[in-house]
Amino acid sequence: MQNSIFSDQSPKILPSILSADFARLAADLADAQAAGADFPHIDVMDGHLVPNLSLGVPIVDKLRKATAGFFDVHLMIDAPVTYAPSFRKAGADNITFHVEAPEVKNDLVGAAKEIRKLGCHVGITLKPKTPIDTVFPVLDYVDLVLIMSVEPGFGGQKFMADMLEKARIVKPMLKSHQKLEIDGGIGPATIRQAREAGIDWFVVGSALFDAKDRKSAMASMHAGIAAAGG
Ligand code: DX5
Ligand code: ZN
Repeated sequence: MQNSIFSDQSPKILPSILSADFARLAADLADAQAAGADFPHIDVMDGHLVPNLSLGVPIVDKLRKATAGFFDVHLMIDAPVTYAPSFRKAGADNITFHVEAPEVKNDLVGAAKEIRKLGCHVGITLKPKTPIDTVFPVLDYVDLVLIMSVEPGFGGQKFMADMLEKARIVKPMLKSHQKLEIDGGIGPATIRQAREAGIDWFVVGSALFDAKDRKSAMASMHAGIAAAGG
């Protein structure tokens, strides 16, 4: 399975629904997309791999019925292979898992293969303190590498600029259909440096959903990407 989104070389700004109004989730996501944001990034947390709880399968399922387009699901959970089938069935188009997850850390390739068997795309990610070489063995088996630029668990944290070094290291190892994504602290002030480090997909939570004017926040981010050379 190869979604055309992966052959699209243009940068994407993914609204992170963790910062949306959960009481009116579909409408708030639609509003962010009307302001120009691309397809949603969906953060799933289990209170074990990261110190917070967020949302689960039923929310993805309901949002899927209300929202067209690609769903990028970031599983911050201990057992991603166990839960991947449920998220796929609920409408996930890409499922990203953590190298630190206890269920998979000794067999990242096996986990990537299991998730791909579900007929979706697969991403790999790592926490800020985890060295980038932990993803090297699985690169041939994934469609996406996600660089965490905050400690995963909460929106609205400060961008860790030193994480861009990981992007610079891994970017030349990726093929043209493999995407490099960044998550945490991205907004008008940080997107340019991230683009310069080779990022394709920018996850944006608070800088978009909390902006007084979402269209102008989007315009500032597009300007940052353009300043980096497009
Ligand atoms: C953090 C999540 C992020 C978060 C980003 O654990 O994975 O997607 O929502 O939020 P901001 O953009 O506010 O840092
Ligand atoms: Zn995320």
